[in-house]
Amino acid sequence: MSPTIRPRRLRQSAPMRRLMAETRIHPAQLVLPMFVAEGLSEPRPIGSMPGQVQHTLDSAAQEVERAIEAGVGGIMLFGVPQEKDAVGSGATDPDGILNRATAFLAERFGDATVVQTDLCLDEFTDHGHCGVLAADGSVDNDATLERYAAMAIAQAEAGSQILGLSGMMDGQVERVRAALDEAGHVDTAILAYSAKYATALYGPFREAVDSSLTGDRKTYQQDPANRREGLREALLDIAEGADIVMVKPASLYLDVLADVAAASDVPVWAYQVSGEYAMVEAAAANGWIDRDRMIAESLTSIVRAGADVVLTYWAIEQAQLLGTMGLGSMGGRS
Ligand code: PBG
Repeated sequence: MSPTIRPRRLRQSAPMRRLMAETRIHPAQLVLPMFVAEGLSEPRPIGSMPGQVQHTLDSAAQEVERAIEAGVGGIMLFGVPQEKDAVGSGATDPDGILNRATAFLAERFGDATVVQTDLCLDEFTDHGHCGVLAADGSVDNDATLERYAAMAIAQAEAGSQILGLSGMMDGQVERVRAALDEAGHVDTAILAYSAKYATALYGPFREAVDSSLTGDRKTYQQDPANRREGLREALLDIAEGADIVMVKPASLYLDVLADVAAASDVPVWAYQVSGEYAMVEAAAANGWIDRDRMIAESLTSIVRAGADVVLTYWAIEQAQLLGTMGLGSMGGRS
């Protein structure tokens, strides 16, 4: 017997598939994470992330120009300081590399794009943890909140428009919101890295920021086994006043992303992290995988699962590609 219902009708040609695509990506949905390092005279390639570099201020400015030109939605800045100490002083110093880079780029490009900053201490502490340590060596949640509050004010004063709270301390959104409001920065938005998992996928990033960490972050980042807890973290952050919530990493956590997207009344973002990038680049460099299809499929899947915006190291390239193919045709390409 021949079927009367034939889903294949809608897949029969490239134009038909393009018309039927349920998921489309626009360049403005892509945010570019960038590393700006202190004391460099020229950009330094990051070995674990082929194609990515630690920027000087000048090369960062050129990269932001390219991002704007390509239609990328915004940039997320990370600082790589030369000096580190136990409390991460460089994070709150207006002359610290992240605050300097933010001021430099926000002043030039703040009207043309959204300049965002990573708000976390790990790049600035000599022990590499995301917070300050108690006498017994554990990460002291409440003492860290005070550092985050100061860091938030420094970043807002430098001109960051969205602060990316990535440290996974309890109460960080509420504390930072209060600090910003008290200082008059009522329009500075908070992006909460709400469901952030203790994953092996951050490995390449540790090289990108010259991380000093020797242990792990399992007492503050989430256990990869926990799905319900990811939603709980996101709902808590929304209750604390987060303007945007995020799930990170993206690809291995699409279930959590879908849960958060279904429940959230604020925008939901996802971070396609360094390991997701490195795995594809490495396999592609060996000729083991079709790089372009893999990138398109990964981004499509993240958006399909519910992300409104994706932080991705491929942001410029993908935005350029989408621009040349006609906006929103990625769904037809994968
Ligand atoms: C914390 C932070 C990390 C990443 C973004 N913000 C590292 C970590 O939590 O260990 C990882 C991003 C990536 O892997 O691409 N400052």
